[in-house]
Amino acid sequence: MNVNRLIITLTTGGAFAAVVVLGFLSGTSRVQADDGEGDAKQSRIRRGFEIAPVPLNLQGKNRELVGLGSYLVNAAGDCNGCHSAGPATEYARGGNPYFKGNPPPVINQATYLGGGRDFGPLVPGATPHIISRNLTPDKTGRPEGGRTFEEFRQTMRTGADLDHLHPNCSDPKILASSSCFPAALPFNGDLLQIMPWPVYQNMTDHELRAIYEYLSAVPCITGPPTGVLHNDCS
Ligand code: HEC
Repeated sequence: MNVNRLIITLTTGGAFAAVVVLGFLSGTSRVQADDGEGDAKQSRIRRGFEIAPVPLNLQGKNRELVGLGSYLVNAAGDCNGCHSAGPATEYARGGNPYFKGNPPPVINQATYLGGGRDFGPLVPGATPHIISRNLTPDKTGRPEGGRTFEEFRQTMRTGADLDHLHPNCSDPKILASSSCFPAALPFNGDLLQIMPWPVYQNMTDHELRAIYEYLSAVPCITGPPTGVLHNDCS
């Protein structure tokens, strides 16, 4: 359709046709502009920096990966929804969006990605409590308490619990530890429970790399003095 025909269509077809045609045209150009490598990527990186709820340490980091990682963690993946210490302390005072008065959300920096949220047992009385882990970097600068990217990728792709916190009780290495999964239950104790790795495993390597880079840029949270949630910050 050339421009003249378009104008004729618009003038003879009335307002409805005009809205449809213009809507279609602007829709097409937006899709083209946002397609693939260009604008969409840059706008996600930009948005990622806008929404990061903590100061980021960009030293020695790939800036684009950190921005994209922030977008995936804070706009899409809701990692902090589970990896804070729990709903009661996830938001800063006055910044809980679920409260009356519609306050804009303000994340509590003191618990951001520090883990410790207790999801309770999978089977009451029969399994240990499932508790989210500390994802912040330790003194090595690597996230998740010093894990390498290869380890992080393995966790996100397979759900493997590299800390072996709750093995199956039949596991000869552990035998009947109080934190194990009884063999009669269907749960695989070698795998992270509740953690949505069956969804995250669909991400591209580049996206997982971006999340890892972002997690290495957030502030370290020490956590409790001992145990798997503890992090050596300095
Ligand atoms: C629905 C809650 C939930 C969400 C959302 C969630 N996680 Fe988890 N995650 C958990 C829980 C719970 C565990 C520990 C599971 C267990 O002990 O079996 C865990 C464990 C992990 C581990 C293993 C840590 C370790 O030290 O071995 C990593 C890595 C991880 N999560 C990364 C992420 C990232 C990155 C995101 C966001 C993209 C995320 N999680 C979002 C609940 C969640």
